Amino acid sequence: MPLVARTRRADRIVGGRGTLMDRCLAAGLPVASACSGRGACARCLVTVLQGGEQLSPIRTHEARVLSRNHAAPDQRLSCQCRALNAAGAVLITTGYW
Ligand code: FES
Repeated sequence: MPLVARTRRADRIVGGRGTLMDRCLAAGLPVASACSGRGACARCLVTVLQGGEQLSPIRTHEARVLSRNHAAPDQRLSCQCRALNAAGAVLITTGYW
């Protein structure tokens, strides 16, 4: 499943496995965090520009944290979701890339 990170400079294909956060960090893209990926701080929010239906479903805990932090409908906690094995790409971005 291609994961593409849109930065100010270019779109970058992000390989690897794991959560979106794990994959971005492994590719050298910084992801904000104050909870080390435990799904508590919401600093790792990413905006999903395309392919959101190809991400793992939002579970109760993530939904609660997204709601508590007034996240937009197209935002996910990058530490709590994964790209599923499906055709098509997932395109994400953050305000600081
Ligand atoms: S890193 Fe804290 S919620 Fe994702």
